[in-house]
Amino acid sequence: MVRPILKYGTRALHTPAAPVVDFDERLQRLIEDMVDTMYAAPGIGLAATQVGVPLRVFVVDLSVGRDPSGLIVMVNPEFVSREGTQLQEEGCLSLPGFNATVLRPARSLLRGLNRYGKPQEREASGLLARAFQHEMDHLDGRLFVDRLRGIKRDVIVRRIQKLQRTGEW
Ligand code: NI
Repeated sequence: MVRPILKYGTRALHTPAAPVVDFDERLQRLIEDMVDTMYAAPGIGLAATQVGVPLRVFVVDLSVGRDPSGLIVMVNPEFVSREGTQLQEEGCLSLPGFNATVLRPARSLLRGLNRYGKPQEREASGLLARAFQHEMDHLDGRLFVDRLRGIKRDVIVRRIQKLQRTGEW
């Protein structure tokens, strides 16, 4: 089931999420809904905070559902290592219409649990490493604009505030 995606400015998006404790039916439904919502958008990643659930869960699929083995579900993830830097344009489903160049790690190793609570590790580089960092930020209540500085950030925030005032956000 597709759930509504919260937009920048909604409190739940800017609040750090708590670790998952129960790997129950409710969690499975949340994950299925997150995958449906990500594919419907369409997007390559979605964090639980974006659908208003304050739990440390994200889904990523660089193939957006085209490759059945492309789906990654991460519960309670932590970075084991991050190396290098990359500078690429990125967007976010919670910031529709906005893009910015964001500094991210070039490579990373992420450790967490799968949807059933079994430990897993994922090595990533390039776009996947970027997606991991982007989704990890969501779990800490941070969006890509929060990684920008000065005028780049101000321009986006002011444009969003204007859209909020006119009820278009
Ligand atoms: Ni995002």
